[in-house]
Amino acid sequence: MNILLLGSGGREHAIAWKIAQSKKLSNLYIAPGNAGTAKCGKNIDLSISDFEQIKDFVLENKITMLIVGPEVPLVEGIHDYFLQDNSLKRVSVIGPQKEAAKLEGSKNFAKEFMKKFNIPTASYKTFDKNSLNQGLKFLESINPPYVLKADGLAAGKGVIICNKIEEAKFELTQMLKDSKFGKASEKVVIEEFLDGIELSVFVLTDGKSYKILPSAKDYKRIGEGDTGLNTGGMGSISPVPFAEEDFMRKIEERIIKPTIDGLNSENISYKGFIFFGLINVKNEPFVIEYNVRMGDPEAESVIPRIKSDIVDLFEGVANSNISEKTIEIDPRFAAAVMLVSEGYPGSYQKGKVISGLEKKIDCLVFHAGTIFDQSDDQTKTNGGRIIAITSFADSMPKALENSYKNAEIIDFEGKYYRKDLGFDLF
Ligand code: AMP
Ligand code: GLY
Repeated sequence: MNILLLGSGGREHAIAWKIAQSKKLSNLYIAPGNAGTAKCGKNIDLSISDFEQIKDFVLENKITMLIVGPEVPLVEGIHDYFLQDNSLKRVSVIGPQKEAAKLEGSKNFAKEFMKKFNIPTASYKTFDKNSLNQGLKFLESINPPYVLKADGLAAGKGVIICNKIEEAKFELTQMLKDSKFGKASEKVVIEEFLDGIELSVFVLTDGKSYKILPSAKDYKRIGEGDTGLNTGGMGSISPVPFAEEDFMRKIEERIIKPTIDGLNSENISYKGFIFFGLINVKNEPFVIEYNVRMGDPEAESVIPRIKSDIVDLFEGVANSNISEKTIEIDPRFAAAVMLVSEGYPGSYQKGKVISGLEKKIDCLVFHAGTIFDQSDDQTKTNGGRIIAITSFADSMPKALENSYKNAEIIDFEGKYYRKDLGFDLF
């Protein structure tokens, strides 16, 4: 089978690495990919939002499966585009259609969906430009901290949490009146603050049945002790120690099943990953957000723990028989430590030579922002997040220890990483 994978991050390297091990694979192409994915298949210089260009490539290279890594092409309707085109119809697309992708593309849609199907989540109200005054009044009627969410996609920056009422009012006004996040903040969801510990749970679904993938926890803040600015993610661990059988059963019964049933009762087809961003409040799970793809950097600790052939699972998604597939999981702990560029998530330099890659010990290296420079045969930094180092062990501290050992070995000018992953779980 010829497969095209869209994306260029650590998540896509982890998925590409896993696909490359499948017996069912003939050729793997990654668009646009990075220096790591180039070792799993062939990188192709395509824009992930240029559907026409993708179509031409798919037809020329007899691609029969398209796997969409990031959310943007899904929210823009790439799956629908394939279904509506006679020459592309036969291609299996892993990733939901536009309507289902609203679970991530519109916070208001996701909240309405959860409310309708009694899925536990923070209580909320939605406002737009015309109801700004009611929004300001609503803020006065609730207790801090105030959680404000831009309705649309805002590259992970659309959530603002304020402790002071003046600040919350200012931000709400900025979002609704001054288009702080452009179109994404035409609507704003104001929701109850939930106090607890977050985790990520994923399923792979054909829309009717599903397989639950290993749980994970990512570390979003740049600073140790979860301080400082939000990033794309500074690392992840899997499984989450507190997500034991009982808690996972609650998640499945109260969240996963009602989500799948809800999609069905709304006649919304769904093929792909569902990422449940959850929070554990006194041992009760609540949904913070849905994403319609794998997490990054969760993928870098979750995907390597899947022992089964991932292409076989993807076929189960495409052919609506995932219930007949089995999924085998490596019981060991996995820890992914992200190396980032100095200055990230603010401005940073690119083009720094990465050394020590060939000296890694007992770990997997997943590239994120890297590029292979053919002019001098060197792998160089090409973004904020550079490399995720994933190790396995029979305990989380041991897995982390090995990733940290390798984080010293792999080097580039301005390298930074958090040394306290898992601190909140021990
Ligand atoms: P989201 O983009 O919806 O995942 O929100 C980004 C981050 O904001 C989450 O990962 C949480 O840390 C935090 N957050 C979002 N909603 C809430 C909430 N209702 N209560 C507490 N924290 C929240
Ligand atoms: N790690 C969070 C995300 O992928 O959105």
